Amino acid sequence: MDNMVRVSNRVKQMGVSAIHEMTRLSKEVDDVAFLSWAKPTADTPEYIKRAAIEAIDNGLVGGYSSPLGLPALRKEIVKKLTRDNNIYANESEILVTVGAIEGLAAAIMTVIDPGDEVIVPSPTYATHIRQVLLASGKPVLVPSNEENGFELNIEGIEQAVTDKTRVIMFATPANPTGTVFSEEQLRQVARIALKHNLMVITDEAYEYFVFDGKKHFSIASMPEMKMNAISCYTFTKTYAMTGWRIGYLHAAEQLIPEIQKAHIPLAICAPVVSQYAALGALQGAQDCITEFKLKYLAARDLMCERLDNLSEFLDYQKPYGSYLMFPRLLTAEGKKDSFSFCKKLLKEARVSTTPGIAFGPTGEGHLRMSFCVPPDMINKAFDRMDHFFKQEI
Ligand SMILES: Cc1ncc(COP(=O)(O)O)c(C=O)c1O
Repeated sequence: MDNMVRVSNRVKQMGVSAIHEMTRLSKEVDDVAFLSWAKPTADTPEYIKRAAIEAIDNGLVGGYSSPLGLPALRKEIVKKLTRDNNIYANESEILVTVGAIEGLAAAIMTVIDPGDEVIVPSPTYATHIRQVLLASGKPVLVPSNEENGFELNIEGIEQAVTDKTRVIMFATPANPTGTVFSEEQLRQVARIALKHNLMVITDEAYEYFVFDGKKHFSIASMPEMKMNAISCYTFTKTYAMTGWRIGYLHAAEQLIPEIQKAHIPLAICAPVVSQYAALGALQGAQDCITEFKLKYLAARDLMCERLDNLSEFLDYQKPYGSYLMFPRLLTAEGKKDSFSFCKKLLKEARVSTTPGIAFGPTGEGHLRMSFCVPPDMINKAFDRMDHFFKQEI
Protein backbone atom coordinates (compact mmCIF):
# COMPACT_ATOMS: atom_id res chain seq x y z
CA MET A 1 0.00 0.00 0.00
CA ASP A 2 1.23 3.51 -0.78
CA ASN A 3 1.76 5.30 2.54
CA MET A 4 2.89 8.60 1.03
CA VAL A 5 1.02 11.61 2.39
CA ARG A 6 -1.27 13.07 -0.21
CA VAL A 7 -0.33 16.64 -1.12
CA SER A 8 -2.02 18.77 -3.75
CA ASN A 9 -0.12 19.57 -6.93
CA ARG A 10 -0.66 23.24 -6.08
CA VAL A 11 1.42 22.90 -2.93
CA LYS A 12 3.85 20.28 -4.28
CA GLN A 13 5.04 22.52 -7.10
CA MET A 14 6.18 25.18 -4.60
CA GLY A 15 9.24 23.32 -3.21
CA VAL A 16 11.03 24.31 -0.01
CA SER A 17 11.46 28.03 0.59
CA ALA A 18 15.16 28.92 0.29
CA ILE A 19 14.54 31.73 2.79
CA HIS A 20 13.27 29.39 5.47
CA GLU A 21 15.96 26.84 4.69
CA MET A 22 18.68 29.47 5.15
CA THR A 23 17.06 30.59 8.42
CA ARG A 24 17.08 26.99 9.64
CA LEU A 25 20.73 26.49 8.68
CA SER A 26 21.72 29.83 10.21
CA LYS A 27 20.37 28.75 13.60
CA GLU A 28 22.94 25.95 13.64
CA VAL A 29 25.83 28.44 13.36
CA ASP A 30 27.28 30.13 16.46
CA ASP A 31 27.63 33.91 16.47
CA VAL A 32 26.25 34.23 12.95
CA ALA A 33 26.24 37.66 11.24
CA PHE A 34 22.66 37.76 10.11
CA LEU A 35 21.71 39.77 7.01
CA SER A 36 18.99 37.53 5.74
CA TRP A 37 15.76 38.57 7.39
CA ALA A 38 13.59 41.41 6.14
CA LYS A 39 12.07 42.21 9.49
CA PRO A 40 12.50 45.21 11.75
CA THR A 41 14.83 44.48 14.64
CA ALA A 42 13.47 47.36 16.77
CA ASP A 43 10.73 46.64 19.30
CA THR A 44 7.22 48.02 18.75
CA PRO A 45 7.07 51.60 20.13
CA GLU A 46 5.78 51.94 23.71
CA TYR A 47 2.70 54.05 22.85
CA ILE A 48 1.45 51.28 20.57
CA LYS A 49 1.99 48.58 23.18
CA ARG A 50 0.12 50.74 25.71
CA ALA A 51 -2.89 51.02 23.38
CA ALA A 52 -3.04 47.22 23.18
CA ILE A 53 -2.68 46.79 26.96
CA GLU A 54 -5.45 49.29 27.58
CA ALA A 55 -7.75 47.43 25.19
CA ILE A 56 -6.97 44.16 26.98
CA ASP A 57 -7.58 45.73 30.41
CA ASN A 58 -10.88 47.15 29.21
CA GLY A 59 -12.07 43.73 28.05
CA LEU A 60 -12.28 44.73 24.39
CA VAL A 61 -10.28 42.01 22.72
CA GLY A 62 -11.92 38.69 23.58
CA GLY A 63 -14.34 38.49 20.66
CA TYR A 64 -14.29 38.86 16.90
CA SER A 65 -14.64 42.26 15.30
CA SER A 66 -16.58 42.86 12.13
CA PRO A 67 -14.70 40.98 9.35
CA LEU A 68 -14.04 44.38 7.81
CA GLY A 69 -12.24 45.60 10.93
CA LEU A 70 -13.03 48.02 13.77
CA PRO A 71 -14.93 51.07 12.46
CA ALA A 72 -12.62 53.44 14.39
CA LEU A 73 -9.55 51.86 12.80
CA ARG A 74 -11.01 52.04 9.30
CA LYS A 75 -11.74 55.71 9.90
CA GLU A 76 -8.09 56.37 10.85
CA ILE A 77 -6.89 54.40 7.81
CA VAL A 78 -8.99 56.64 5.56
CA LYS A 79 -7.26 59.70 7.05
CA LYS A 80 -3.84 58.13 6.55
CA LEU A 81 -4.55 57.21 2.91
CA THR A 82 -5.62 60.79 2.20
CA ARG A 83 -2.65 62.32 4.02
CA ASP A 84 0.15 60.04 2.84
CA ASN A 85 -1.01 58.25 -0.31
CA ASN A 86 -3.22 60.79 -2.06
CA ILE A 87 -5.99 58.22 -2.06
CA TYR A 88 -9.33 59.87 -1.33
CA ALA A 89 -11.02 56.80 0.09
CA ASN A 90 -13.99 56.24 2.31
CA GLU A 91 -14.50 53.60 4.97
CA SER A 92 -16.49 51.32 2.67
CA GLU A 93 -13.31 50.88 0.61
CA ILE A 94 -11.19 49.50 3.48
CA LEU A 95 -10.74 45.94 4.73
CA VAL A 96 -8.47 45.28 7.73
CA THR A 97 -6.33 42.17 7.16
CA VAL A 98 -3.85 39.85 8.87
CA GLY A 99 -0.78 41.74 7.71
CA ALA A 100 -0.32 42.74 4.10
CA ILE A 101 0.10 39.04 3.30
CA GLU A 102 -3.46 37.99 4.00
CA GLY A 103 -4.75 41.02 2.12
CA LEU A 104 -2.67 40.06 -0.92
CA ALA A 105 -3.80 36.42 -0.72
CA ALA A 106 -7.48 37.39 -0.40
CA ALA A 107 -7.12 39.90 -3.24
CA ILE A 108 -5.55 37.45 -5.66
CA MET A 109 -8.09 34.73 -4.82
CA THR A 110 -10.90 37.19 -5.46
CA VAL A 111 -9.82 38.28 -8.91
CA ILE A 112 -8.38 35.21 -10.66
CA ASP A 113 -9.71 31.84 -11.78
CA PRO A 114 -7.59 28.69 -12.23
CA GLY A 115 -5.21 29.09 -15.17
CA ASP A 116 -5.44 32.89 -15.26
CA GLU A 117 -2.14 34.69 -15.73
CA VAL A 118 -0.62 37.18 -13.31
CA ILE A 119 2.25 39.34 -14.52
CA VAL A 120 4.93 39.64 -11.86
CA PRO A 121 8.00 41.84 -12.46
CA SER A 122 10.99 39.78 -11.40
CA PRO A 123 13.04 39.34 -9.24
CA THR A 124 10.18 39.58 -6.81
CA TYR A 125 9.06 38.78 -3.30
CA ALA A 126 8.68 34.99 -3.47
CA THR A 127 5.45 35.07 -1.46
CA HIS A 128 3.66 36.83 -4.33
CA ILE A 129 4.56 33.97 -6.69
CA ARG A 130 3.36 31.42 -4.14
CA GLN A 131 0.11 33.27 -3.58
CA VAL A 132 -0.63 33.14 -7.30
CA LEU A 133 0.17 29.40 -7.36
CA LEU A 134 -2.07 28.76 -4.34
CA ALA A 135 -4.91 30.47 -6.20
CA SER A 136 -4.20 28.08 -9.12
CA GLY A 137 -3.02 30.98 -11.25
CA LYS A 138 0.01 31.15 -13.48
CA PRO A 139 2.74 33.65 -12.53
CA VAL A 140 4.28 35.21 -15.64
CA LEU A 141 7.66 36.62 -14.63
CA VAL A 142 8.89 39.67 -16.53
CA PRO A 143 12.55 40.47 -15.83
CA SER A 144 13.17 44.01 -14.59
CA ASN A 145 16.03 46.15 -15.90
CA GLU A 146 18.92 45.51 -13.52
CA GLU A 147 21.23 47.98 -15.23
CA ASN A 148 18.69 50.72 -14.43
CA GLY A 149 18.37 49.84 -10.77
CA PHE A 150 15.83 47.07 -11.43
CA GLU A 151 13.25 49.49 -12.77
CA LEU A 152 10.15 48.01 -14.41
CA ASN A 153 10.46 46.71 -17.95
CA ILE A 154 7.33 48.39 -19.31
CA GLU A 155 7.73 47.02 -22.81
CA GLY A 156 8.21 43.51 -21.43
CA ILE A 157 5.08 43.85 -19.28
CA GLU A 158 3.06 45.02 -22.27
CA GLN A 159 4.34 42.15 -24.41
CA ALA A 160 3.51 39.61 -21.69
CA VAL A 161 -0.22 40.47 -21.76
CA THR A 162 -2.34 37.67 -23.27
CA ASP A 163 -6.07 37.02 -23.29
CA LYS A 164 -5.56 35.07 -20.04
CA THR A 165 -3.88 37.93 -18.15
CA ARG A 166 -5.94 39.27 -15.27
CA VAL A 167 -3.50 40.94 -12.90
CA ILE A 168 -0.20 42.78 -12.59
CA MET A 169 1.23 42.32 -9.09
CA PHE A 170 4.30 43.94 -7.49
CA ALA A 171 5.73 45.57 -4.40
CA THR A 172 6.96 49.15 -4.41
CA PRO A 173 9.41 49.81 -2.82
CA ALA A 174 10.44 46.37 -3.98
CA ASN A 175 11.68 43.33 -2.16
CA PRO A 176 14.42 42.07 -2.82
CA THR A 177 15.89 44.98 -4.81
CA GLY A 178 14.87 48.07 -2.83
CA THR A 179 13.69 49.72 -6.06
CA VAL A 180 11.16 52.54 -5.76
CA PHE A 181 9.09 52.43 -8.94
CA SER A 182 8.70 55.94 -10.30
CA GLU A 183 5.39 57.71 -10.78
CA GLU A 184 6.12 57.85 -14.50
CA GLN A 185 6.58 54.07 -14.74
CA LEU A 186 3.54 53.38 -12.59
CA ARG A 187 1.45 55.59 -14.86
CA GLN A 188 2.63 53.38 -17.73
CA VAL A 189 1.54 50.30 -15.79
CA ALA A 190 -1.85 51.95 -15.23
CA ARG A 191 -2.14 52.65 -18.96
CA ILE A 192 -1.54 48.96 -19.74
CA ALA A 193 -3.98 47.86 -17.03
CA LEU A 194 -6.74 50.14 -18.28
CA LYS A 195 -6.16 49.20 -21.92
CA HIS A 196 -6.56 45.46 -21.15
CA ASN A 197 -8.87 45.79 -18.15
CA LEU A 198 -6.40 44.22 -15.72
CA MET A 199 -6.31 44.54 -11.95
CA VAL A 200 -3.15 45.97 -10.42
CA ILE A 201 -2.43 44.51 -6.97
CA THR A 202 0.20 46.46 -5.09
CA ASP A 203 2.13 45.59 -1.98
CA GLU A 204 3.21 48.86 -0.36
CA ALA A 205 4.72 47.39 2.80
CA TYR A 206 7.80 49.66 2.63
CA GLU A 207 5.93 52.83 1.62
CA TYR A 208 7.62 55.06 4.22
CA PHE A 209 11.19 53.85 3.72
CA VAL A 210 12.20 55.83 0.66
CA PHE A 211 15.49 57.78 0.48
CA ASP A 212 17.38 60.50 -1.36
CA GLY A 213 14.34 62.52 -2.40
CA LYS A 214 12.60 59.62 -4.20
CA LYS A 215 8.83 59.59 -3.76
CA HIS A 216 6.55 56.65 -3.08
CA PHE A 217 3.64 56.68 -5.54
CA SER A 218 0.40 54.75 -4.97
CA ILE A 219 -1.20 53.75 -8.25
CA ALA A 220 -4.64 53.94 -6.60
CA SER A 221 -4.15 57.70 -6.26
CA MET A 222 -5.01 57.92 -9.98
CA PRO A 223 -8.81 58.41 -10.06
CA GLU A 224 -9.08 56.45 -13.32
CA MET A 225 -7.63 53.38 -11.53
CA LYS A 226 -10.49 53.25 -9.02
CA MET A 227 -11.92 49.97 -10.37
CA ASN A 228 -8.55 48.48 -11.36
CA ALA A 229 -6.40 48.65 -8.23
CA ILE A 230 -6.20 46.77 -4.96
CA SER A 231 -3.57 48.30 -2.69
CA CYS A 232 -2.21 46.35 0.29
CA TYR A 233 -0.58 47.99 3.30
CA THR A 234 0.78 46.90 6.65
CA PHE A 235 1.78 48.07 10.11
CA THR A 236 4.59 45.46 10.13
CA LYS A 237 7.39 47.61 8.76
CA THR A 238 6.14 51.13 9.46
CA TYR A 239 5.71 50.62 13.20
CA ALA A 240 7.93 47.55 13.80
CA MET A 241 4.84 45.38 14.37
CA THR A 242 5.87 42.18 12.58
CA GLY A 243 4.36 39.79 15.09
CA TRP A 244 1.07 41.63 15.55
CA ARG A 245 -0.06 40.50 12.08
CA ILE A 246 -2.04 43.55 11.10
CA GLY A 247 -2.52 45.32 7.78
CA TYR A 248 -5.28 46.54 5.48
CA LEU A 249 -6.24 46.91 1.87
CA HIS A 250 -7.97 49.53 -0.19
CA ALA A 251 -10.18 48.65 -3.17
CA ALA A 252 -13.31 49.88 -4.93
CA GLU A 253 -16.39 49.80 -2.71
CA GLN A 254 -18.02 47.18 -4.98
CA LEU A 255 -15.01 44.88 -4.59
CA ILE A 256 -14.81 44.93 -0.79
CA PRO A 257 -17.76 42.52 -0.18
CA GLU A 258 -16.23 40.17 -2.77
CA ILE A 259 -12.77 40.26 -1.16
CA GLN A 260 -14.47 39.79 2.20
CA LYS A 261 -15.77 36.43 0.92
CA ALA A 262 -12.14 35.29 0.59
CA HIS A 263 -11.01 37.04 3.79
CA ILE A 264 -13.53 35.34 6.12
CA PRO A 265 -12.49 31.72 5.40
CA LEU A 266 -8.84 32.77 5.70
CA ALA A 267 -9.05 34.81 8.90
CA ILE A 268 -12.64 35.74 9.99
CA CYS A 269 -11.15 39.04 11.10
CA ALA A 270 -7.70 40.45 11.87
CA PRO A 271 -6.58 39.88 15.51
CA VAL A 272 -8.65 42.30 17.56
CA VAL A 273 -5.89 43.15 20.03
CA SER A 274 -3.69 44.08 17.08
CA GLN A 275 -6.45 46.23 15.62
CA TYR A 276 -6.46 48.27 18.85
CA ALA A 277 -2.66 48.50 18.70
CA ALA A 278 -2.91 49.69 15.08
CA LEU A 279 -5.51 52.26 16.07
CA GLY A 280 -3.08 53.52 18.73
CA ALA A 281 -0.28 53.57 16.15
CA LEU A 282 -2.24 55.81 13.77
CA GLN A 283 -3.62 58.11 16.48
CA GLY A 284 -0.26 58.76 18.19
CA ALA A 285 2.73 60.86 17.13
CA GLN A 286 4.40 59.47 14.02
CA ASP A 287 7.99 60.21 15.09
CA CYS A 288 9.01 56.55 15.16
CA ILE A 289 8.65 56.34 11.37
CA THR A 290 11.23 59.08 10.82
CA GLU A 291 13.51 57.49 13.42
CA PHE A 292 13.37 54.11 11.68
CA LYS A 293 13.86 55.72 8.28
CA LEU A 294 16.98 57.62 9.35
CA LYS A 295 18.42 54.47 10.88
CA TYR A 296 17.84 52.50 7.67
CA LEU A 297 19.32 55.28 5.56
CA ALA A 298 22.54 55.31 7.63
CA ALA A 299 22.66 51.51 7.45
CA ARG A 300 22.16 51.60 3.68
CA ASP A 301 25.05 54.02 3.30
CA LEU A 302 27.29 51.87 5.47
CA MET A 303 26.40 48.73 3.52
CA CYS A 304 27.08 50.45 0.17
CA GLU A 305 30.42 51.71 1.47
CA ARG A 306 31.43 48.24 2.58
CA LEU A 307 30.26 46.78 -0.74
CA ASP A 308 32.40 49.29 -2.63
CA ASN A 309 35.43 47.59 -1.07
CA LEU A 310 34.31 44.27 -2.51
CA SER A 311 33.65 45.52 -6.03
CA GLU A 312 35.78 42.73 -7.53
CA PHE A 313 33.34 40.19 -6.14
CA LEU A 314 29.98 41.92 -5.83
CA ASP A 315 28.31 44.51 -8.04
CA TYR A 316 25.28 46.36 -6.76
CA GLN A 317 22.52 48.80 -7.65
CA LYS A 318 22.00 51.36 -4.89
CA PRO A 319 18.57 50.80 -3.30
CA TYR A 320 16.41 53.92 -2.83
CA GLY A 321 13.77 52.22 -0.72
CA SER A 322 12.94 49.40 1.73
CA TYR A 323 15.85 48.06 3.78
CA LEU A 324 17.03 45.49 1.29
CA MET A 325 19.56 45.29 -1.47
CA PHE A 326 20.35 42.73 -4.12
CA PRO A 327 24.02 42.64 -5.14
CA ARG A 328 25.13 40.51 -8.06
CA LEU A 329 27.83 37.90 -7.45
CA LEU A 330 30.77 38.16 -9.80
CA THR A 331 32.51 34.93 -8.78
CA ALA A 332 32.12 31.92 -11.11
CA GLU A 333 30.47 29.81 -8.41
CA GLY A 334 28.15 32.55 -7.20
CA LYS A 335 26.94 33.38 -10.71
CA LYS A 336 25.87 29.78 -11.22
CA ASP A 337 24.25 28.74 -7.97
CA SER A 338 23.36 31.34 -5.36
CA PHE A 339 21.92 28.79 -2.93
CA SER A 340 25.16 26.74 -2.76
CA PHE A 341 27.11 29.99 -2.51
CA CYS A 342 24.99 31.20 0.43
CA LYS A 343 25.44 27.91 2.23
CA LYS A 344 29.22 28.13 1.73
CA LEU A 345 29.28 31.75 2.94
CA LEU A 346 27.34 30.67 6.02
CA LYS A 347 29.59 27.69 6.74
CA GLU A 348 32.94 29.30 6.05
CA ALA A 349 32.37 32.95 6.99
CA ARG A 350 29.40 32.68 9.38
CA VAL A 351 27.43 35.25 7.38
CA SER A 352 23.79 34.58 6.63
CA THR A 353 22.34 36.07 3.42
CA THR A 354 19.45 34.99 1.20
CA PRO A 355 20.11 33.31 -2.16
CA GLY A 356 18.82 35.28 -5.13
CA ILE A 357 17.14 32.21 -6.59
CA ALA A 358 14.53 32.54 -3.81
CA PHE A 359 13.16 35.52 -5.75
CA GLY A 360 12.56 33.78 -9.07
CA PRO A 361 14.92 32.62 -11.84
CA THR A 362 16.01 36.19 -12.64
CA GLY A 363 17.31 36.44 -9.08
CA GLU A 364 19.92 33.72 -9.66
CA GLY A 365 23.50 34.92 -9.27
CA HIS A 366 22.54 37.46 -6.58
CA LEU A 367 22.38 37.72 -2.80
CA ARG A 368 19.76 39.58 -0.86
CA MET A 369 21.11 41.49 2.10
CA SER A 370 19.02 43.27 4.69
CA PHE A 371 20.30 46.53 6.19
CA CYS A 372 17.58 46.49 8.81
CA VAL A 373 20.23 45.52 11.36
CA PRO A 374 22.48 47.51 13.71
CA PRO A 375 25.70 48.94 12.19
CA ASP A 376 27.78 46.50 14.29
CA MET A 377 26.12 43.60 12.55
CA ILE A 378 26.81 45.07 9.10
CA ASN A 379 30.47 45.62 10.02
CA LYS A 380 30.83 42.14 11.49
CA ALA A 381 29.31 40.56 8.35
CA PHE A 382 31.51 42.60 5.99
CA ASP A 383 34.72 42.07 8.00
CA ARG A 384 34.07 38.37 7.58
CA MET A 385 33.16 38.69 3.90
CA ASP A 386 36.30 40.74 3.20
CA HIS A 387 38.33 37.86 4.56
CA PHE A 388 36.21 35.19 2.80
CA PHE A 389 36.32 36.76 -0.67
CA LYS A 390 39.97 37.64 -0.53
CA GLN A 391 40.78 34.02 0.32
CA GLU A 392 38.73 32.89 -2.67
CA ILE A 393 41.10 34.35 -5.24
C1 LIG B 1 7.21 43.13 0.15
C2 LIG B 1 6.69 42.56 1.42
N1 LIG B 1 5.36 42.49 1.61
C3 LIG B 1 4.84 42.01 2.74
C4 LIG B 1 5.64 41.54 3.77
C5 LIG B 1 5.03 41.02 5.02
O1 LIG B 1 4.01 41.86 5.42
P1 LIG B 1 3.04 41.54 6.62
O2 LIG B 1 3.87 41.24 7.82
O3 LIG B 1 2.28 42.76 6.75
O4 LIG B 1 2.17 40.39 6.24
C6 LIG B 1 7.02 41.56 3.62
C7 LIG B 1 7.90 41.03 4.69
O5 LIG B 1 9.04 40.80 4.54
C8 LIG B 1 7.56 42.10 2.43
O6 LIG B 1 8.88 42.18 2.24
